[in-house]
Amino acid sequence: MTLDLDSIRAQFPALSLTHDGRPRVYFDNPAGTQVPQQVLTRTTDAMVQCNANMSGNFRTSREATELSYQAHVAMADFYNAASEREVVFGANMTTLTFMMTRVLGPLFNPGDEIICTHMEHDGNNTPWRIMAAERGLVVKTLPFNRETYEFDLDELDSLITERTRFAALNYSSNILGTINDVKEMCRRLRAVGALTYIDAVQFAPHGAIDVQDLGCDFLVASAYKFYGPHQGVLWGREDLLSALKAYKLSVVADQTPGKFETGTQSLEGQAGVIGATEYLQWIGTTMAVAHQPSTAGLRQRTREIHGAMGAMVDYEHQLSGRLIAGLQSIPGVQVRGITDPSSMKRRVPTVSITAPGLVPADLATFLDTHGVYVWNGHSYALPVIEWLGLQDQGGVVRIGPTHYNTIGEVDTVLQLVQDFMARR
Ligand SMILES: Cc1ncc(COP(=O)(O)O)c(C=O)c1O
Repeated sequence: MTLDLDSIRAQFPALSLTHDGRPRVYFDNPAGTQVPQQVLTRTTDAMVQCNANMSGNFRTSREATELSYQAHVAMADFYNAASEREVVFGANMTTLTFMMTRVLGPLFNPGDEIICTHMEHDGNNTPWRIMAAERGLVVKTLPFNRETYEFDLDELDSLITERTRFAALNYSSNILGTINDVKEMCRRLRAVGALTYIDAVQFAPHGAIDVQDLGCDFLVASAYKFYGPHQGVLWGREDLLSALKAYKLSVVADQTPGKFETGTQSLEGQAGVIGATEYLQWIGTTMAVAHQPSTAGLRQRTREIHGAMGAMVDYEHQLSGRLIAGLQSIPGVQVRGITDPSSMKRRVPTVSITAPGLVPADLATFLDTHGVYVWNGHSYALPVIEWLGLQDQGGVVRIGPTHYNTIGEVDTVLQLVQDFMARR
């Protein structure tokens, strides 16, 4: 069974909008995806049916409390977490990560070592470096190979010592697209007792996440990257979350996840997250049954979501394969990421390019005049751009398809890039 693109695209109101009379082409997905109707319906319903603060003794408040609980359960299924008590909502990945630096910092002593990488979005980099500076920790940085765009795990081994306490790891790069073997990385770090914090923001829209299988301690993603609203969602092992001291108000119960969810949460955002999981379930049950995993013990919703992801990923390999081959055939264009057609499984479809003398902002602006939306610059992944030495050239142009894009849209952007390059 393959994806029924017409049915899928019909779910997304934004996909039928036009740009000066032309269809809009959204290739800005790594910065934020469009949302299906189910997310809009869930969000609106929450704001109409039960727009009340939680934990009150009246009907709308009870419904709001239940809705929030259901959002935690839905994300526990999305991550294949052991319990909804392991799911913490917050404004976004960056805010949750800063919060975690406050929570984890006191566990570490001066001279302890933490590992960051050159493949991070700054959201999984600067917060930990600030924590390290405050607590006198040593930061070691894992580089990636600038030819293969992957980590060499021997280099990770050379950074790990008996003083390694923590590692902040990127699951998938928002510039290179590389998918990292975080399961193996966590295994090696766990062997010395180090905690692991996985940034899954870019992986979440393009792959099934199973926190129990990964063996990490914390993992974080943002729903607005996987067809939902602007909400960050952190997963942490329950024993750890329960034991950690939260920065919370004295009136708040000392229980996870509530103790980490400071202030009034976005109920409409959490409702929208339920909508995103329902959308994925719809794909999983209508066009991806064959992709549903048969792994014993998986809950039904997890099977459906993971099945959807499997079918979406298969299709995205076609998009990325065609996009990369087409870009490589344009004189001067260099793809900054894995390009081997047989290795599409090791990357998400996010494709960044450079070319000698190319000003990335000029190409992005040119594409916009044709209704094609892409990002240029560093996209907050400064560690990546600096390691590649691209900061003085304006970074990269990033073309980021996802499962609702068409092969025709890929061909459109390829033709436009070719025209732009030929006219320079
Ligand atoms: C890999 C990665 N990590 C972290 C973030 C930050 O996420 P948020 O905007 O939810 O703070 C982004 C945002 O683009 C990202 O791509």
